[in-house]
Amino acid sequence: MKMPNLGLGTFRLTGQPLRDSLLQGLELGYRHIDTAQIYANEAEVGQLMAESGVPRQDIYLTTKVWTSEFGQGKVIPSLEMSLEKLGTDYLDLALIHWPSPRDEVPMAVYLEQLAEAKARGLTREIGVSNFTVAQLKEAIDILGPGAIAHQQVEVHPLLQNRKVVEFCQAQGIAVTAYMPLAYGKVLSEPLLMEIGQRHGVSAAQVSLAWLLAQGMAVIPSSTRRENLTANLAALKVTLSSDEMAVIATLDRGERCANPDFAPAWDN
Ligand SMILES: NC(=O)c1ccc[n+]([C@@H]2O[C@H](COP(=O)([O-])OP(=O)(O)OC[C@H]3O[C@@H](n4cnc5c(N)ncnc54)[C@H](OP(=O)(O)O)[C@@H]3O)[C@@H](O)[C@H]2O)c1
Repeated sequence: MKMPNLGLGTFRLTGQPLRDSLLQGLELGYRHIDTAQIYANEAEVGQLMAESGVPRQDIYLTTKVWTSEFGQGKVIPSLEMSLEKLGTDYLDLALIHWPSPRDEVPMAVYLEQLAEAKARGLTREIGVSNFTVAQLKEAIDILGPGAIAHQQVEVHPLLQNRKVVEFCQAQGIAVTAYMPLAYGKVLSEPLLMEIGQRHGVSAAQVSLAWLLAQGMAVIPSSTRRENLTANLAALKVTLSSDEMAVIATLDRGERCANPDFAPAWDN
């Protein structure tokens, strides 16, 4: 299954908010769910997928391997545990969540295990998240061209991350924009609101449409039916080339996800 270009993010969501997000999202037609070992919600995600009645094979399911699971012999058991919690025997995509903090585990050690997980059928595709251009080059050297299908990275109008996005696209690595609404910061951006007014849509929808028009997938999270519906409707918003260009001027490097173990970012 090809990754649908709009998915449901699940960071921070457990209990009733996760239920509101996934059951309403699947009912409205979303078929792509993004979770991670560190979100501590894989078991709930699995239960809700089953409860929704949507067949497993109709959902594109991503999880991410946490950095504590990178050591030799650890990646595959951690993914087997994820599969058990998610109640499925395969993932569509397994990502390395962050590069190993301070390179504590050499990249070849964890990437080769990830490739082995794919060879064993635990996941259909593999990829990385939060990798810089230099780290992507190293990853391609380790696994060979074409092995890394996806990179998930923070991108929105306030942090356009052009160097890494352009590098991925030139290498045929699909980009998923995480925090595509900058966790709410784009909502009050006057230029996005003004463009939205012209199209009869919100600043959030403009942000998603702008990312989608550049060939990226987006995984906004929402617990509210009206926002889930609005985000789906962003698939139908077409921005003019002038609007695309003016949104490009909003880049101000405003990074929302920047933990102390983050790599030395490209910009
Ligand atoms: N790979 C990584 O390291 C990484 C890091 C961070 C995030 N992620 C992934 O990216 C996903 C998205 O990131 P995020 O959840 O942090 O931030 P986000 O999607 O940018 O923003 C989510 C916030 O926006 C609100 N919202 C959603 N749609 C809206 C709309 N149409 N209008 C107004 N408000 C709207 C939501 O509130 P309501 O619930 O009220 O709608 C929520 O508070 C995560 O869930 C996770 O799956 C990955």
